[in-house]
Amino acid sequence: MLLLMLALRATTLHAQHSEKEMDAKIDSILSLLTLEEKVAMCHAQSKFSSPGVPRLGISELWMSDGPHGVRAEINWDNWGYAGWTNDSITAFPALTCLAATFNPELSRQYGVAVGEEARYRRKDILLGPGVNIYRTPLNGRNFEYMGEDPHLASTLVVPYVQGVQQNGVAACVKHYALNNQERWRDHINVEVSDRALYEIYLPAFKAAVQEGGAWSVMGAYNQFRGQHCCHNEILLNQILKEDWGFDGVVVTDWGGAHDTREAALYGLDIEMGTGTDGLTTSTRNAYDYYYLARPFLSMIKSGAVPESVVDEKARRILRLMFRTNMNPNRPPGRMNNEEHLQVARAVGGEGIVLLKNDDGFFPINPDKEITIAVIGENATRAMTVGGGSSELKARDEVSPLRGLKERFRNATIIHAMGYASGPPQYGREVPSALDADSLRHAAVKAAGQADVVLFFGGLNKNHFQDCEGGDRRQFGLPFGQEELLAQLAEVNENIGVILISGNAVAMPWLSKVKALMQGWYLGSEAGHALADVISGDVNPSGKLPFSFPAKLSDNAAHHFGELSYPGDSINQHYKEGIFVGYRWHDIQKIKPLFAFGHGRSYTSFELSDIKTDKPSYSADGQAIVSCQVTNTGDADGAEVVQVYVGKPDSKVERAVKELKGFRKVHLKKGKKTRVEIPIEMNKLAFYDESISGWKLERGAYILFVGTASDNIVQKLEITVK
Ligand code: BGC
Repeated sequence: MLLLMLALRATTLHAQHSEKEMDAKIDSILSLLTLEEKVAMCHAQSKFSSPGVPRLGISELWMSDGPHGVRAEINWDNWGYAGWTNDSITAFPALTCLAATFNPELSRQYGVAVGEEARYRRKDILLGPGVNIYRTPLNGRNFEYMGEDPHLASTLVVPYVQGVQQNGVAACVKHYALNNQERWRDHINVEVSDRALYEIYLPAFKAAVQEGGAWSVMGAYNQFRGQHCCHNEILLNQILKEDWGFDGVVVTDWGGAHDTREAALYGLDIEMGTGTDGLTTSTRNAYDYYYLARPFLSMIKSGAVPESVVDEKARRILRLMFRTNMNPNRPPGRMNNEEHLQVARAVGGEGIVLLKNDDGFFPINPDKEITIAVIGENATRAMTVGGGSSELKARDEVSPLRGLKERFRNATIIHAMGYASGPPQYGREVPSALDADSLRHAAVKAAGQADVVLFFGGLNKNHFQDCEGGDRRQFGLPFGQEELLAQLAEVNENIGVILISGNAVAMPWLSKVKALMQGWYLGSEAGHALADVISGDVNPSGKLPFSFPAKLSDNAAHHFGELSYPGDSINQHYKEGIFVGYRWHDIQKIKPLFAFGHGRSYTSFELSDIKTDKPSYSADGQAIVSCQVTNTGDADGAEVVQVYVGKPDSKVERAVKELKGFRKVHLKKGKKTRVEIPIEMNKLAFYDESISGWKLERGAYILFVGTASDNIVQKLEITVK
């Protein structure tokens, strides 16, 4: 033990020492750079790279999207794909699915694997992960984020970032901050209380920076309090860099810079993506016209901003380079491989959420000689294509239909598309040219002939679905799926729905189907992961990372009308404050269709002997909540014990309960184990606007221990002294 401590201390000393050494080296490099060279480092030289300093052998920085895999190569000056033959990758499940695993260890594996592929592809910065909070089910980009709860997102983002960065590739946490919708994302000005900002929207970014040690952060497109987030005095200078001590690089979102003076002074370090398409034909180098290029240079030369401003940016960029492409010890990375596919499959298997399962509909025994009608466009549709910047060129994508055919060899599988959506086209909705009536007719006929119907529906990566650049326009299922489901239910009562989406949807058809599974976007191994769970090879253990409201107006952002969502096209007020997601359902006593944290299993679990180690704690103390978990059913499986905390008689309005700890346990059938969940008292503080700081109230707190936000098994009281 002593030896271990000494060794750890030596590594820390060594780390501190090398940080110091690094800073000294950076200073000496800075003294060699010309003003022009320093300015050049602060903006793009192509769509996805910024220049180094060729004269001194300082190499370029190369970036790539993120976050579900490494994006295919893009042309130097425009958004077209370069068409290379060496850039296909492993597509990992979308981050909503990762969040649904409630498993930080899987998040680490995900980060390591995607980081290895980024490194292999010679990328220095991976543009992800995204941790914008799920505020409305209409946000077209929720699938790229980690759900509605700051504690869950914080807990899962940290190992992802660390995993990526252990490869000498910087994670770029995005989109900082308040980019919670795509509608008017380029300019909408978000007004939100300090309390909601600090308690709901910032914690995952803070965790990524302070605990995960993220080396870069991407600013958001929208504005916050009248200033664009990519050069925002409060968000970048004050909170990120000063309060949190972030020593890395702030990168714009592509085209997120709007003003040279603000970009110079308010926290931006590298400007990317300002329009260049076509410009290179008329100007020698369009990149010279970026805000942080010639205009910046002139401002420094004229004395309007001091040279120390560019020195500070160059220092941060060099620091990032020492951590990435100037680190001689960084590993070489690995191209897509079987192990990465296994990580993708495992994340899928643990993230799929079984929402409803009447009459033990799932699992379906793969040995049975039955007829299964697999219906729905999403049974065969590639979901790594489309969606915007997170689109991927997967080496292979196993469709649900293929996954089922491989696993259910004794069954007769018939397939009908049922409905059609049209091809994915960025920024444009292209309706399908197929005949809807014929598709529906064929599907109903297939359903009538089958013992079991598996309906693969939901959303997809088209514009106005789960896709960047626009929000959904309806809460219900699109492309005539509701009507189709109603007709299928008339000819077959054995229907299980697999919802492929990154968002909640309305479900007027829910009572007509026996079972429902949330199948997310699962990447390369989609079909395998789904067949694993459908067949029972894997027992589902995913939990919802966001609430499914029964109707849109049950969601807090929508409850407050247009100015709250989507805004009046100029401004938007987050009128619900801290009451996002389950916090709103709880306080308003509005029953969700499916609650945050909900997810069923093929076995059953019992929580018993739930207690804390002590009745009271000091303000800097830590409670250990423990309970016995027993797998009481007849399948091996996993359960997530969730601890929420509430403060009765608080001086301020508070959520009834907030997630403050959780632990996933895997248990063989019939086995039991004791689970311990630490809860730090200082995490129970609220953000006190009157002192612009956190305040921990003394007195009684209630711990709610259970397996979903709407399934609390026991309440315990503790006291903070
Ligand atoms: C997206 C970012 C992405 C960037 C580069 C932007 O449109 O908002 O998430 O990283 O493009 O592709």
